[in-house]
Amino acid sequence: MTKPQHVPVLLEEVLEYLHVRPGGVYVDATLGLAGHSSEIARRLGPKGILIAFDRDPEAMELAKARLEDLRAELGPEMPEIRLVPKSFSEAASEIEPASLDGLLADFGVSSLQLDEAHRGFSFRSDGPLDMRMDTRTGETAEQVVNQEDENELADLIYEFGEERRSRRIARAIVRARPITTTAELARVVSAAAPAMKGDKIHAATRTFQALRIRVNDELGEIRTLLESAPSLLKPGGRLVLISFHSLEDRQVKDAFREAGRTKVYEVLTKKPVVAGEEEERKNPRSRSAKLRAASKV
Ligand SMILES: C[S@@+](CC[C@H](N)C(=O)[O-])C[C@H]1O[C@@H](n2cnc3c(N)ncnc32)[C@H](O)[C@@H]1O
Repeated sequence: MTKPQHVPVLLEEVLEYLHVRPGGVYVDATLGLAGHSSEIARRLGPKGILIAFDRDPEAMELAKARLEDLRAELGPEMPEIRLVPKSFSEAASEIEPASLDGLLADFGVSSLQLDEAHRGFSFRSDGPLDMRMDTRTGETAEQVVNQEDENELADLIYEFGEERRSRRIARAIVRARPITTTAELARVVSAAAPAMKGDKIHAATRTFQALRIRVNDELGEIRTLLESAPSLLKPGGRLVLISFHSLEDRQVKDAFREAGRTKVYEVLTKKPVVAGEEEERKNPRSRSAKLRAASKV
């Protein structure tokens, strides 16, 4: 596997809000390509601990190799790294209560997952309709697309894709079944609900997002993490979360508002922090990134 060029999103802002303390204990809930983790590790020093989750075995292997390179570079300055090849919704059973100085999550899919056609996340390259982050378990997008009834499909495309033309798309999918590849699905969706004048996104973007969210239970995962985070952080510990679409950001915003009201957190970002122009130019993924941060009271 090649090592794609990778610049972690909102890196400076993540480091500012996470406020990495040498010798501290931090969690990266979404290790991915180890971009953020590497920079956290550089600041932790030999007494620090970084616990990193990823449920994607391919990402974990790649990240492991990158962290080995970092170990060779940092030598005795390398902190202890604990890799946890699991979902971050399991954090509460993997981490001591009130033990963390900070927790970071950079939600969504990595460029590795999007770029590798065989993972089935992208309509830009043809691959099997898989979309599972954790390839060891769970139902694939192909199963959802070919087995759900039309109403269920329409509801999920509406709810998780925020796609107003969901009924029409669901009807076209059911007529075209079986659908087994990303290109086939993209074709069916684009024909049923073509991009409209002025649309900035591909006609199939919302449907693919909906399937990905469903296959990986992405919103359920975030909900569980938001519920367990307060008990895992030390007083003063930082929570830094990066969302990529409105459904994710709404969950974070609502949880922060409630936790701010009940004095569980002090919310550090009145408005979400977004990328600057230069980052947006260099890294298209950063254009939809929204960072929110809080400190445990
Ligand atoms: C956007 S990437 C993270 C990129 C990373 N911050 C970096 O700098 O390289 C998201 C990663 O989180 C993982 N992921 C997403 N949801 C997860 C979950 N619920 N549990 C564990 N890992 C998850 C994905 O497999 C993916 O590798």
